[in-house]
Amino acid sequence: MQNDIREVLYRAEQIQEKVRELGAAVSRDYEGRNPLVICVLKGAFIFMADLAKNITVPIALDFMAVSSYGNSTRSSGEVRIVKDLDTSVEGRDVLIVEDIIDSGLTLSYLIDVLERRNALSVRVVALFDKPGRRTVDLNADYTGFVIPDAFVVGYGLDYAEKYRNLPYVGILKPEIYSS
Ligand code: XMP
Ligand code: MG
Repeated sequence: MQNDIREVLYRAEQIQEKVRELGAAVSRDYEGRNPLVICVLKGAFIFMADLAKNITVPIALDFMAVSSYGNSTRSSGEVRIVKDLDTSVEGRDVLIVEDIIDSGLTLSYLIDVLERRNALSVRVVALFDKPGRRTVDLNADYTGFVIPDAFVVGYGLDYAEKYRNLPYVGILKPEIYSS
């Protein structure tokens, strides 16, 4: 498995430190409130678990799964809700937890859906950001690491459902997904 990784970008300890910082920033900003924290499955599941442990205000958790048509390393922009929330967002402060922002299409779709459902506020925390690949004007409210335009895996992120369990994040060897 390790053999498929060209380069480790962030070690487990570096990720944990960043997640603690993000949790502290979120906790500060949501002081006195009770946000609904939404994990975008599957990629954000590990980030969500670690982040939640570092949020000190009371929160409710929910999960949503979306799939975007197109091949597995590039999003087409057509987003479909595969698993919807169990909770109503009406009148709630909502914090979307995303693994990575690439084109921005998935998130702009999700934000739009939640705003149309009358959320009180919608913010985004993303662990990774590839601003160089943006096709829509969108920025996260909280960003972990800004990364170059390379396909990364680990810490929840997959290629063809593999590598999600790696505790670090690395760049996949291009021959793995181009072959
Ligand atoms: P968009 O383009 O809509 O895409 O911002 C966001 C979604 O695309 C996936 N994605 C990746 N997944 N390594 C991955 O494992 C990557 O480098 C990568 N870049 C984008 C991811 O599912 C994200 O939610
Ligand atoms: Mg994925």
